Amino acid sequence: MKIGVLTGGGDCAGLNAVIRAVVKRAEDCGFQVIGVKYGWAGLIDADAVPLSYTDVLEILDTGGTILKTSRTNPLKNPADAEKVLANVKKLGIDALVAIGGEDTLGVAHKLAAKGLKVVGVPKTIDNDLSSTDVTLGFDSAVNVSMDMIDRIRTTAASHDRVIVVEVMGRHAGWIAIQAGLAAGADLVLIPEHPFDLDEVCQHVKKAVDAKGSGVVVVAEGATMKTSPGAISKESGVDEFGHVRLGGVGEFLADEIEKRTGLETRSVTLGHFVRGGSPSAFDRVLATRFGVAAVDLVKEGKFDMMVSLRGTRIVPVKLVEAVAKLKTVDDALFNAVRTFFE
Ligand code: F6P
Repeated sequence: MKIGVLTGGGDCAGLNAVIRAVVKRAEDCGFQVIGVKYGWAGLIDADAVPLSYTDVLEILDTGGTILKTSRTNPLKNPADAEKVLANVKKLGIDALVAIGGEDTLGVAHKLAAKGLKVVGVPKTIDNDLSSTDVTLGFDSAVNVSMDMIDRIRTTAASHDRVIVVEVMGRHAGWIAIQAGLAAGADLVLIPEHPFDLDEVCQHVKKAVDAKGSGVVVVAEGATMKTSPGAISKESGVDEFGHVRLGGVGEFLADEIEKRTGLETRSVTLGHFVRGGSPSAFDRVLATRFGVAAVDLVKEGKFDMMVSLRGTRIVPVKLVEAVAKLKTVDDALFNAVRTFFE
């Protein structure tokens, strides 16, 4: 049995820990592992390297992915999808472990219908995949964001300023709401609840009246009630059709300053929170996910994804995991909105 492993889409902390666990469990089962480079691009180009446990001994705590990643969509061009299937054969891959988010795992599910034996591992800092309580990389991203917002709060307080902090979160505001709450932000704006500029300004003034400064956390995908489109100063789309985001924080800071007269700055955390060492939670989750993925391969259960449900790792159908994005639920939002009103 030869298992291929790849990482696709945006990187996050904990990817190397999964690769390490896949290799370790596979070797224990007597299987070989081959690392596919640059996500699906590596299967279009047959770019892969054998991996043994000695190659992954020291990567538990390292950021990024030793296999590299890309946002290549092999389903954009039918010839590429055929190349993927042909190269899987050529490389002698009997089963593939695909570590990714909605795009990478959406492709995995579609290729499973064409005969690819694939198991998914859910990762994304955005935490927006269904069928799992949490995705790999989210906890690390929340902790880094919390630390940065804590630091921003003290400088905002020293200068009696308002600071808007933009964090990633295209369709879902999980990082914004969790990190904002954990760091005691005055207001959190998420894609699930479009905002009104007058209300934002009123809220900021209230915070500044009370303590002299204010911190607003905004997810990059947050929109205004009056115009539902993304507020981005970037242009271009990726191979999955996602527009590049970034700029809503700067836009808000300008509007707040113009409308309230309060000195307002903006900071974008962006890719900072994807990099670096995984949290303890993510190291453990990655290890459990990697082991469970190999176990599914061993049991011959494909077109499945490993997931965390409560404290247990359970297999779920890939089709269900990618059917619908998991956004911030009203129960969480309503429970915490008292801090942001
Ligand atoms: O998919 C995760 C994510 O972090 C999104 O929140 C963000 O919009 C996107 O990646 C940006 O990725 P990149 O700039 O690497 O293409």
